[in-house]
Amino acid sequence: MDSTKVALVTGAGQGIGRGIALQLASDGYHIAIADLAFQEDKARVVVKEIEELGRKAIFVATDVSKKEDIFAAVDAAAEQLGSFDVIVNNAGIAQVKPIEEISEEDLNKIFSINVNSVVFGIQAAAAKFTALGKKGKIISAASIAAVKGFPILGAYSASKFAVRGLTQVAAQELAPRGITVNAYAPGIVGTGMWDLIDEKLSEINGKSRGENLKENVESIMLGRIETPEDVAGVVSFFASPKADYVTGQVLLVDGGMLYN
Ligand SMILES: NC(=O)c1ccc[n+]([C@@H]2O[C@H](COP(=O)([O-])OP(=O)(O)OC[C@H]3O[C@@H](n4cnc5c(N)ncnc54)[C@H](O)[C@@H]3O)[C@@H](O)[C@H]2O)c1
Repeated sequence: MDSTKVALVTGAGQGIGRGIALQLASDGYHIAIADLAFQEDKARVVVKEIEELGRKAIFVATDVSKKEDIFAAVDAAAEQLGSFDVIVNNAGIAQVKPIEEISEEDLNKIFSINVNSVVFGIQAAAAKFTALGKKGKIISAASIAAVKGFPILGAYSASKFAVRGLTQVAAQELAPRGITVNAYAPGIVGTGMWDLIDEKLSEINGKSRGENLKENVESIMLGRIETPEDVAGVVSFFASPKADYVTGQVLLVDGGMLYN
């Protein structure tokens, strides 16, 4: 592979994003980690892990809800790492609330982080691919909640359905330039996000901490919780030439929870 392939992964300071960053580094990419400034210490550890794999890595403090931050991060990746080939719009947040309690502030927050960021990521990556004369690949985080609405995850489900819509739209609009646009839809991954979901569900339904997670994991046909590496395998495929003829898709990677 060309030694100057570069991927930018948002929210790669921890969790699924970290797993994706390490997988793409193993695949031969130099990596830009775009995460919030307060995550810098964690992100620096990931930078080191990538360097130990023999690839270059940078951390760019980025708030993905801000358009100028995403454009600046893409510029930094291209300038400091020498190319730009893949963006993974991974960063996202969850909210756990009955629909009757969702506030205007809640909606604005989750949509700015989970949805606006994907629009800005698509825009910044497409502009850079075109400037560099590349085809490029755009990959975003959806969820099982992008395929089926989950109770008490109303705003989150809506935001992830939006990612699915944007993926289909961008795939069609960017296909003439050879850019592919896909999304991965994880199930239940043991990250900080599920710690929060489990805690909030406990507050709502009174079950003990860990019980909601356990019950959800028991519904997974393959019989175990998902890992960031499970998700990263799908992203590796989408980023690879093996997926050159795949676009506009949202691929469930959930161990057997939903079927389409
Ligand atoms: N954990 C799961 O079970 C699960 C399931 C389906 C989909 N997902 C999706 O996968 C993605 C990653 O989730 P995770 O489980 O690794 O979560 P996580 O909370 O462990 O990590 C999220 C990362 O995103 C970063 N982030 C949050 N807001 C940001 C912002 N405004 N700007 C830049 N970075 C920001 C955080 O700092 C963190 O590093 C999310 O989009 C999530 O919705 C997760």
